[in-house]
Amino acid sequence: MAVNILTDIARSVGLSTVMRVAGLATRLLPIPQPTMMVGPGASVRLGQALNDFGHRKILIVTDATISRLGLMLPMTDALTAGGTQFVVFDEIGPDAPIEQIEKGVELFKAEGCDAIVAFGGGSVMDAAKVIGLSAANHKSPRQLVGYFKGLHAPAPIYAVPTTAGTGSEVTVAAVVSDPAAKRKLVIADTRIVPKMAALDASLMTGLPNDITAATGMDALTHAIEAFIGHWGTEFTDRMALTSVSMIYRNLPTAYAHGHDLVAREKMALAASYAGQAFTRANVGYVHAIAHQLGGFYHTPHGLANAIMLPHVLRFLSPAITTKLAVLALRARLGKDSEPEAALAEKFLDSIDAMNARLGIPRELAALRAKDIPALAGAACREADLNYPVPSYMSQQDCETVIRNVLPNKALTRRTIRRPVAGKPAAKRRRAARSTVASL
Ligand SMILES: NC(=O)c1ccc[n+]([C@@H]2O[C@H](COP(=O)([O-])OP(=O)(O)OC[C@H]3O[C@@H](n4cnc5c(N)ncnc54)[C@H](O)[C@@H]3O)[C@@H](O)[C@H]2O)c1
Ligand SMILES: [Fe+2]
Repeated sequence: MAVNILTDIARSVGLSTVMRVAGLATRLLPIPQPTMMVGPGASVRLGQALNDFGHRKILIVTDATISRLGLMLPMTDALTAGGTQFVVFDEIGPDAPIEQIEKGVELFKAEGCDAIVAFGGGSVMDAAKVIGLSAANHKSPRQLVGYFKGLHAPAPIYAVPTTAGTGSEVTVAAVVSDPAAKRKLVIADTRIVPKMAALDASLMTGLPNDITAATGMDALTHAIEAFIGHWGTEFTDRMALTSVSMIYRNLPTAYAHGHDLVAREKMALAASYAGQAFTRANVGYVHAIAHQLGGFYHTPHGLANAIMLPHVLRFLSPAITTKLAVLALRARLGKDSEPEAALAEKFLDSIDAMNARLGIPRELAALRAKDIPALAGAACREADLNYPVPSYMSQQDCETVIRNVLPNKALTRRTIRRPVAGKPAAKRRRAARSTVASL
């Protein structure tokens, strides 16, 4: 136990210095941004634009659902009309498993492709990024895990996101999965940022409710984690706060009225803005834990983030009260005349309320108590090595945070919720209910 405590202290002091230095370095790193086409029909305009680039043959990477729904047809019709050759690879499954990416690399090479269009959610976009990097460097995806592991840039990648969540169309990251090892792996390189991206809300109106909810909460988590970490810049803070504001205004509508094109487009933009924020300012413990839940139980990424977000924020809240108050103001939950602590509490309550409104469960059905030490250990390692978190969690803290979402814990939950001074429980419940009503 004593050894654990000493290790935790060494971790928190040493790592925060290392991460601050790394943060200064990332400020100087040039991160390219794609040319964006926005609006219903943007995917067709991307197809028309590609006709002028003179590519020999384009590999279109997607998944079986998108293929079956025919969402690509307007874009592929535009390519055909312009005489551009393409081949479709629609075998990418959730979380971009490495074996499927390797199949895509073979097809890219066998067909003599010289460009890639990623047409789908984060799984597809990340798979496409890694297909490009792997093909250019003759390295397997496993050999590319980490930062800048390829010598050569990939062929140009273009992206058409069909979910409003990951922001992968603007980020330096690709998250792939190794199902045999029950792990999710991150590959990062500034050269995998797509050259162009089309935000076409007309592709998103049929997105099922639960996917709208989970992916929207992923975008919200990106924005919040980018803002509360200590690598934020003026630009990333602006992008993150704008994204939070747009998500609070539009996610409930996109969820309840999927065909509302305005809400869908605002969510697509908000997800991209959050992507622009976190691709530089990075994420934090919510993602570190969610990646383990995805690896262990195949929990959809956005769902894992949504379930963990309120618990991680409550743990961190003493260190980030001022930032939580700013978030509350941008989410229009209060007035700046109110005390910071009250605003911060409103923001925390509003996350619970948003989850409830979106049908996100409070517990993770797949979670098993026996797995929690391993999940917490892996999450702490991921966060320690990568994320500029506002304060450090010990292994024990992280286990406690995860234990909050064990199934069937309603009566016995060891909660880490902070009591609000002077506010009895019944009042707090009423406050949470009124936040639900105002979302
Ligand atoms: N690269 C990054 O910066 C980054 C950031 C966050 C998350 N991720 C990764 O992205 C992955 C998750 O991506 P996601 O949340 O977009 O989910 P996803 O790509 O796995 O898609 C979820 C489901 O939605 C379906 N779908 C997608 N678009 C649809 C549409 N328009 N209509 C109907 N069905 C549609 C898909 O077929 C799939 O079944 C995870 O692996 C996560 O780790 C990457
Ligand atoms: Fe994410």
